[in-house]
Amino acid sequence: MKLVQITVGIVATILTLVILLFVGLGEPNRMAAEEASQLGKSIEEGALLFGEYCKPCHGPQAKGIEGLCPPLNDQYFFTGRLKDVGYPGSLRDYVKSTIAGGRLVSTRPNLYAGSMPPWAQDFGGPLRPDQINNLTDFVINFEKTAGQEMGMPTPTPEANDPVSRGKAIVLGKGTCAACHKIEGTAAAGVLGPELSKIGSIAETRVAGQSAADYIKESIVNPSAFLSPGFADNLMTKTFGQTLTADEINDMVTYLSTLK
Ligand code: HEC
Ligand code: HEC
Repeated sequence: MKLVQITVGIVATILTLVILLFVGLGEPNRMAAEEASQLGKSIEEGALLFGEYCKPCHGPQAKGIEGLCPPLNDQYFFTGRLKDVGYPGSLRDYVKSTIAGGRLVSTRPNLYAGSMPPWAQDFGGPLRPDQINNLTDFVINFEKTAGQEMGMPTPTPEANDPVSRGKAIVLGKGTCAACHKIEGTAAAGVLGPELSKIGSIAETRVAGQSAADYIKESIVNPSAFLSPGFADNLMTKTFGQTLTADEINDMVTYLSTLK
């Protein structure tokens, strides 16, 4: 009797050990799978945020917008960029801190004339730390695909479209986003009137003036007609000098589509 009990005990112990061993061996795999799926989720979140906040400037596939914003989905960014800017840390840290703090002055104004506002809440931007992380994961993930092309941004089809060009200027070089809000874009300024429906509003502002003429006049000569409820001398008055006629026309074309 006693012998049987001991035998059962030993067999049970061995079985338990074998089971534990198998579970234990599977553990690193499971942890790796878990980490991979968390990273996958983070990249997906990052992609959504990118579409909302970054695409207007960095382009649909983060391929950049010629003259305005650099590509991030680009081989040079992963191989040469850190060295050229003399950044001592990792690419991940560079990406993360650039997103968080923005880039108020372009390092290559002759190539990319735009500037980038800060995104992290710590720097007065709209995004939480976990969202900055998601965006960093998304950008770093381009490393796998960026190898296919070299160097300079490929001009996107959008560069030939006045509406996209105008939008990029409004959100970038024009600095309009600092003072105006436009629904569905990164522009969230509050000093000036919201422009989300300016295409329709402009038709009703000044009798006898077309929407496009009103918008153009508002940009080059802000004091000509003050939007109700807003004081004079708040809007920058030098756009007629600092932006080219083509740039202003593109912005007017874009803003006229906002209805
Ligand atoms: C208003 C236009 C604009 C928006 C919106 C914008 N960026 Fe930028 N971004 C720029 C410009 C301009 C630069 C700097 C170019 C330079 O210094 O040569 C830049 C630089 C960067 C860089 C560093 C690139 C390098 O080569 O040094 C990263 C990374 C970046 N942006 C990520 C983002 C992310 C992520 C978002 C969305 C949260 C975003 N950007 C939104 C305009 C923008
Ligand atoms: C420093 C803040 C500031 C900047 C930068 C700025 N604006 Fe304005 N904007 C205002 C204010 C304030 C008003 C309202 C007072 C007025 O009509 O002059 C205004 C009015 C307008 C209006 C008329 C809106 C309406 O409802 O009648 C348009 C259009 C406009 N801005 C477009 C732009 C564009 C395009 C840019 C970028 C090239 C820009 N603004 C940059 C502050 C700004």
